[in-house]
Amino acid sequence: MSNTAYVGLLGRGAVGDAFHDLLADRADAVEEATGRRPEISGVLTSKKGSFDEILAASDVIVELIGGTDPARDYVTRALRSGRDVVTANKQLIAQHGDELAEAAREGGAELRFEAAVAGAIPVIRVVKESLGTIEIEKVFGIVNGTTNYILTEMARTGASYDSALKRAQELGYAEADPTDDVNGADAAAKMAILARLAFGSPVTLEHVEYEGIEEISSDDLSYAKELGLSLKLLGVAERRGEGALSIRVFPCFLYPGHPLAPVEGAFNAVMVEAPAIREITMSGPGAGGIETATAVLGDVVSVLAGGSPLGEASGKVKIAKDISSAFYLHLEVEDRPGVLAKVAEILGENEVSVRSVVQHGLGADARLVMVMHEVEEKRFKAALSKLGKLKFMRSAPRSIRVIEEEFK
Ligand SMILES: NC(=O)c1ccc[n+]([C@@H]2O[C@H](COP(=O)([O-])OP(=O)(O)OC[C@H]3O[C@@H](n4cnc5c(N)ncnc54)[C@H](OP(=O)(O)O)[C@@H]3O)[C@@H](O)[C@H]2O)c1
Repeated sequence: MSNTAYVGLLGRGAVGDAFHDLLADRADAVEEATGRRPEISGVLTSKKGSFDEILAASDVIVELIGGTDPARDYVTRALRSGRDVVTANKQLIAQHGDELAEAAREGGAELRFEAAVAGAIPVIRVVKESLGTIEIEKVFGIVNGTTNYILTEMARTGASYDSALKRAQELGYAEADPTDDVNGADAAAKMAILARLAFGSPVTLEHVEYEGIEEISSDDLSYAKELGLSLKLLGVAERRGEGALSIRVFPCFLYPGHPLAPVEGAFNAVMVEAPAIREITMSGPGAGGIETATAVLGDVVSVLAGGSPLGEASGKVKIAKDISSAFYLHLEVEDRPGVLAKVAEILGENEVSVRSVVQHGLGADARLVMVMHEVEEKRFKAALSKLGKLKFMRSAPRSIRVIEEEFK
């Protein structure tokens, strides 16, 4: 085997460009760690380069195009032909993980994707390499920096959702088309990947239920401040007994003692819970060209050094029903006698119990802001639907989950 490792680079955008420079800068260190000196064998962009020529000239393919087409075809062909592949592409892994694992088996090649989840934080390594020794119960966290920046900005300045989003775009924390970030799809793809690795189950994006932050109003954040809560878009993947899993993304309030409560701005943080380790929290920059390129280079070093292939996923995915959560509820009501009693009656009928309640405003501006104890979500939704039909309701009720868990 030649001492040179030829690296074919697909995509030279924000991450690809940073990777290109980093590889040149760190070539000595990579050679020292792996015994092989990396050299770029070719670069493909939308305007120049030929995939076939690059494939023929490469030992390793680094895919930094993004999206599923043509990345899926390129990555599959590279793996089948025995080239190790490193990618930062969460959509590709979350949607086509099984097919790619099969192509890697066929070609005897390795597929690595540390940069696909939480940028520079080595969560994939921790989750995957823990799996042999501990049984992971739950992986959860803040895996989208754009939404965390927007929510932090809304809480800090009282800005509306629209103006916080605009600011995120000006600062480069949000894309010109931020849809997949703000509607939760980006976080959902990352949670599908983490669930697949944590539970060894062939989870794909289809198994993830997700909501985004588009409906969050600055009111919700100012009431939350009064209640001492902070709002985050959380991804949660957990075992729910009898072999069932729950993988979801939703905005929720956290109490101040929660380890994720202080994670602000464009940062990401992921927690892993297992009986043997209780919980660990990893946090750091979740995106950025150079930060992500660092994770990509780490994977290149691993494949050149000859690591083990990524964990196998097998069996059928069983998604848990009857999930319970605590909720915050915001009701804009007419200010007249009997309103609170009627609301309490509907909540009581559905076994929803109230932990705290605050009344805000008077007359045409009256609102009830409540935090509920944990309840089966279907019971809460039934109560919400009945509340929404009451004549004294001035607008549709708004609810957001609350994480009650206390951490010491
Ligand atoms: N940016 C981040 O902070 C970040 C963080 C974590 C993960 N990621 C992931 O990293 C990957 C790359 O992201 P990025 O931000 O670097 O993207 P980007 O700036 O949009 O760059 C994409 C690159 O791919 C090339 N490309 C697009 N379509 C192509 C096609 N059909 N054939 C060949 N090349 C094509 C583009 O070519 P042109 O140069 O000709 O336009 C460009 O060089 C994505 O999977 C993304 O999700 C990014």
